[in-house]
Amino acid sequence: MNRVEVELGDRSYPIFIGEDLLGSQIAAQHINGRQVALITNSTIAPLYAARVKAALGNLRVDVFELPDGEAYKNIESFGSIIDWLMDNRHNRSTTLIALGGGVVGDLTGFVAATFQRGVDFIQLPTTLLAQVDSSVGGKTAINHPRGKNMIGAFYQPKCVIADTSVFETLPDREYRAGLAEVVKYGIISDAEFFEWLEDHADGLLRKDAATLTHAIRRSVEIKAEVVASDERETGRRAILNYGHTFGHALETATGYTKLLHGEAVAIGMAAASSLSTTVTGLKPEAAARVVKLLADLGLPTRIPAGLQVQELIDLMRMDKKVIDGGLRLIVADEIGTVQVTAAVQERDVADVLARCGADQ
Ligand code: NAD
Ligand code: GLY
Repeated sequence: MNRVEVELGDRSYPIFIGEDLLGSQIAAQHINGRQVALITNSTIAPLYAARVKAALGNLRVDVFELPDGEAYKNIESFGSIIDWLMDNRHNRSTTLIALGGGVVGDLTGFVAATFQRGVDFIQLPTTLLAQVDSSVGGKTAINHPRGKNMIGAFYQPKCVIADTSVFETLPDREYRAGLAEVVKYGIISDAEFFEWLEDHADGLLRKDAATLTHAIRRSVEIKAEVVASDERETGRRAILNYGHTFGHALETATGYTKLLHGEAVAIGMAAASSLSTTVTGLKPEAAARVVKLLADLGLPTRIPAGLQVQELIDLMRMDKKVIDGGLRLIVADEIGTVQVTAAVQERDVADVLARCGADQ
């Protein structure tokens, strides 16, 4: 088993990575009270809830099952969980456990941050995206009808337990979408890791256990280091959003139905790398390596047909990184080194969107 620490003073916590961890005693060892509220969804509950419950031994465990989907990461689900916690007499010593992908994790984390002004919570991420990204770092949120993740809090879990055996049941498309975030860590922080990913694309696609464990471990080490340096995103943490401003615009423009988040981020990283060749002088060969690695991992790198350049730019202006109406984007100096910049001309963004397949 691998262990990575997120160093945040008295809010520090460990991330455990390994096979068959859902049935282990690790979660129980991080619970202080006697009561647990296990929050999951209708797809994951039949696969894994019994295993988690069995490992919690003598604790009182209530299970809340959400319907599956991003559409349920909303204020109504939040209200239903709070009602249910109160109906079942949960209190400040209750520990919430999120068993699922980023949707369950973000929602459960936000409930934990707010129920009785904050209760302990544990993340049991079951998608690759959740293991390498959303379960680590304390961003919790629900969606508002007018914007994704518009209501939320920074609230850290007590621990994260990433069981790599859960990928046996994860659909391949969801798995590949998670690989996009793994590639992101190489681009933003570690050229050697990027090269390692280029050499191990086949092993990653085969879900080879040792290859996968190394990829997850290195990804969360990088995320933990960035979060420890800037927990509340006053500056550096924004680099975790490489390609995401383009990606979010693509998700919104396609109504959240055509592209998975990781797929939109893959296209976004191809676009951000292309933009970097203009803004920072990133070598075109480096931008081409990003596109090739994403393609080798079965990810899209072109904007889907039928989207307009101006429509995408307008959506990019809705990004949370925008300050006083000005676009702020992450660009790469080279693979392994990126920066946040406001010095991007809208014309250059338009050119990149057109180069990546948007209609002018
Ligand atoms: P998801 O939670 O919707 O899970 C994807 C699908 O896979 C769902 O249908 C789910 O039920 C199913 N599933 C999950 N694990 C499974 C398993 N082991 N076997 C079979 N099916 C399984 O999607 P996601 O990609 O994990 O998360 C996306 C969410 O994460 C978005 O809401 C996004 O905003 C959020 N996010 C948050 C952060 C953060 O820092 N908090 C970072 C990135 C993304
Ligand atoms: N997913 C971006 C962040 O955690 O900051």
